[in-house]
Amino acid sequence: MRSIFLTQWRLLITVLAVVLLTVGALTAWLWPRSPWTPEEVTTLRGLALASLPPLAPDPSNRYGDDPRAAALGARLFFDTRLSVDGTVACATCHVPTRQFQDDLPLGQGVGTTDRRTMPLAGAAYSPWLFWDGRKDSLWAQALGPLESPVEHGGTRTQYARVLWEHYRTEYEALFGPLPDLADTTRFPPAAGPVADPAARAAWEAMTPDDREAVNLAFANLGKAIAAFERQLLPSPSRFDSYVEALLLNDVAAMQAALSPDEVAGLRIFIGRGQCITCHNGPLLTNNDFHNTGVPAVPGLPEDLGRATGLPLAQADAFNCLSRYSDAQPADCAELRFAKADPHVQTRQFKPPSLRGVAERPPYMHAGQFATLRDVLEHYNQAPAAPAGDSELRPLELSERELAQLEAFLHSLSGLGQAPAACLGCHPEPDAPAAAAPERSIP
Ligand code: HEC
Ligand code: HEC
Ligand code: HEC
Repeated sequence: MRSIFLTQWRLLITVLAVVLLTVGALTAWLWPRSPWTPEEVTTLRGLALASLPPLAPDPSNRYGDDPRAAALGARLFFDTRLSVDGTVACATCHVPTRQFQDDLPLGQGVGTTDRRTMPLAGAAYSPWLFWDGRKDSLWAQALGPLESPVEHGGTRTQYARVLWEHYRTEYEALFGPLPDLADTTRFPPAAGPVADPAARAAWEAMTPDDREAVNLAFANLGKAIAAFERQLLPSPSRFDSYVEALLLNDVAAMQAALSPDEVAGLRIFIGRGQCITCHNGPLLTNNDFHNTGVPAVPGLPEDLGRATGLPLAQADAFNCLSRYSDAQPADCAELRFAKADPHVQTRQFKPPSLRGVAERPPYMHAGQFATLRDVLEHYNQAPAAPAGDSELRPLELSERELAQLEAFLHSLSGLGQAPAACLGCHPEPDAPAAAAPERSIP
């Protein structure tokens, strides 16, 4: 009797347990719990490209959002006549099919630079340009490589003459009349405040008014190129698809976007790896400056990074407060309130956007690391900086965790669809050169 009674109870409990488990599994399947806490979801949303705010106007460049300036700037960006020997354009180093960089440890123009070419997508969001932030706007930045003896290697009067000879109609419609650059006694073929002594002497022999007219044309050349660069944005990645699916609670789409290892890597990226201290926001950079103990390259001149970059930006003849800027002093808060502090700023560099990063080795400001794995080993070990103090601390991540972090970084690559801004000038993405911007931009 007793044992039958017990058996019945056992049976009942088993049946109940089976029913409960089935209901539980069904519920979990129909209403899956998010793998992320609400705080983490907020963090992830902030990293997605959909969170990128519209680009604010640049008060120092009143042509920054003029499509005619962008069309002119696009042509100038690809024009090798803007170099000492007709061989170098911006696009020589900033290759459009390679995320506007060149895959080299050091940029190659008419000579070799001391740093790595930076990718350009989203650079317009950065208040400071270059690895050391020695320029405070895209237009002022563009003027640097043009006069660098190892990049374009030419001079201001030469470039003003290229505008006069090849772009006069478009230029004058936007910026007003150019001086009579056909007059080579007033405007020598090669004159500018550059390293070359002959070009410098020719520049100093010009009248102040003529120098000023050339400076104005030079600044406007930068403003047109900047208007083009403002259109260069990253394209969405699998990571963005993942966040979009997460916000819709669409588990199937989340699983289609990222593998379990990539999700584990993402968890490290926003957690133990502390990567988002510096690589945050939808461009995965805070556009600030940090010393991360990246080794110096033997043979290159000492590079103090931000410690030399900020004083250069403050002294730059084309900065936000200069007379070539269209801004009011009140618009130049970044420049006015930046404080030089050589001790803290030694070997601080700007974190690049990590969008597309897996597709563009080598890494760091002078291509110090050949692979992503080398970069992650560096973060894991956090060696002392060659000068100044590294902000990094050892992470103690396992081999497997490093592999997961690396897998996650691959998910930040663009999915191949051209950003809308490219399509404005290249209606057929497969035949970009066929799209003349004069025809495609109204
Ligand atoms: C010889 C190769 C080379 C050429 C030519 C060149 N660049 Fe660069 N570019 C670089 C290198 C190298 C850096 C980083 C230099 C540094 O930090 O000192 C850079 C940095 C930049 C940046 C900064 C991006 C950021 O996020 O801070 C912009 C913008 C840029 N270049 C635009 C241009 C434009 C516009 C031209 C043409 C007028 C041009 N570059 C010509 C190699 C080149
Ligand atoms: C303290 C700020 C900081 C932290 C934290 C940080 N980074 Fe960086 N990251 C930088 C800076 C600055 C650079 C550029 C340094 C240089 O070139 O000297 C950089 C460069 C990189 C690069 C190379 C990008 C390129 O195009 O060359 C990768 C990849 C990268 N970081 C990934 C990560 C990952 C992954 C983490 C977390 C484990 C992380 N970073 C944490 C500041 C930081
Ligand atoms: C304002 C107009 C404009 C925009 C925006 C623009 N381009 Fe271009 N693009 C040009 C012009 C002009 C050329 C040069 C065509 C020529 O004369 O060879 C060009 C050339 C190219 C080339 C061919 C380069 C070569 O060496 O032959 C590629 C690839 C390209 N662009 C990709 C892009 C991508 C990717 C984007 C978006 C991130 C983009 N472009 C945005 C106007 C533009």
